[in-house]
Amino acid sequence: MKAVVVSRFGGPEVLQYVEVKTPRVGSGDVRVMVRAVGVHAADAMWREGTYPYALPKPPFVPGQIATGVVAEIGSGVEGLTIGNPVHVLHLLGGAYAEQMVVPHEDIIHLPDGIDLQAAACITDYIATWAFFQDGFSGHEAKSVFMPNSTGGTGMANIQCAKQKGMQVIASGSSEAGCRRLIEWGADHAINHKTGDVIAEVLSATAGRGVDAVLDHVAGPAFNDHFALLAPDGMIFIMNTLAGAPRENPFAQMRLHPDRCWKIRSWSTHVYDRHSPRRQDLTRQVIDLMVSGRFRPTGINKQLLAEAGLVHALRGERKLIGKTILVP
Ligand SMILES: NC(=O)c1ccc[n+]([C@@H]2O[C@H](COP(=O)([O-])OP(=O)(O)OC[C@H]3O[C@@H](n4cnc5c(N)ncnc54)[C@H](OP(=O)(O)O)[C@@H]3O)[C@@H](O)[C@H]2O)c1
Repeated sequence: MKAVVVSRFGGPEVLQYVEVKTPRVGSGDVRVMVRAVGVHAADAMWREGTYPYALPKPPFVPGQIATGVVAEIGSGVEGLTIGNPVHVLHLLGGAYAEQMVVPHEDIIHLPDGIDLQAAACITDYIATWAFFQDGFSGHEAKSVFMPNSTGGTGMANIQCAKQKGMQVIASGSSEAGCRRLIEWGADHAINHKTGDVIAEVLSATAGRGVDAVLDHVAGPAFNDHFALLAPDGMIFIMNTLAGAPRENPFAQMRLHPDRCWKIRSWSTHVYDRHSPRRQDLTRQVIDLMVSGRFRPTGINKQLLAEAGLVHALRGERKLIGKTILVP
């Protein structure tokens, strides 16, 4: 079979589309013919060798998320038949391939007739639905600001927050990206390259600021979030793509002790050891998707063989929306 292999850590050029050995099905495993691969920020960090958590050593086939149909079932696996549509979340990778062999626990049986390309976005929604269900942990929020939200996680974040009845203000680095934010359901979209983010967020919230910021970038400008945060507001860190803040964030918090701001880090890896909860959340997301309340739109469909080009475009921030690869 064909697969994309990372033979050494590096730039997009290390993604080679080559012939590899077809994996064998063991007891408890399922073979899936891949129909769509969900491309994630983590895939680039795996490729570069910078992912901080459970990073494999090259050579490996990247990708943790795919949808497809069941092609072979190992002994001891019940409840699946050949041809069933499934979603795969396999933390050890292997999704950038024509076929995957995974333990049956990593498979979710999808409803018949589901759009397998749209279903490749399910993991984006699981990550953020989990965040809104569990990560908030009692934090009351009527409004949320989501910077840099033009990717798949941003799409899911916006739609999950709208399901929770929140006012959503999101930002992107282009006019096309901002249009996409509104299409996904954001109430306000800010171009953070040309606009005044703090002023626009304050204006959209009648000067009060937002109750929550959902940040996956952090970086030098991180402390700007405090200027648009309401009292008792919380900044959630989903990643730190742009590195550390320029100034010590605790200094801002100490300067405004009456505001009682909070910072929390959050990751869906919290469910790596609680898979029943992950499965529970996955079922909820599938129901919300089937009922049309989660609507992945504007999906970029690219060929699996073009994975290197896709990673290069992502690195240049030329991709807008959720990207999937199809074998
Ligand atoms: N904690 C969790 O459980 C969890 C789960 C899923 C995802 N995440 C994180 O959520 C983020 C988004 O994931 P994704 O798959 O949607 O990613 P993505 O599509 O690759 O990127 C999303 C957006 O982030 C902006 N961006 C990309 N690289 C950047 C950089 N170096 N500095 C600043 N902004 C950058 C771009 O928006 P603009 O160019 O429009 O600004 C891009 O459209 C990632 O950081 C990922 O690790 C966290």
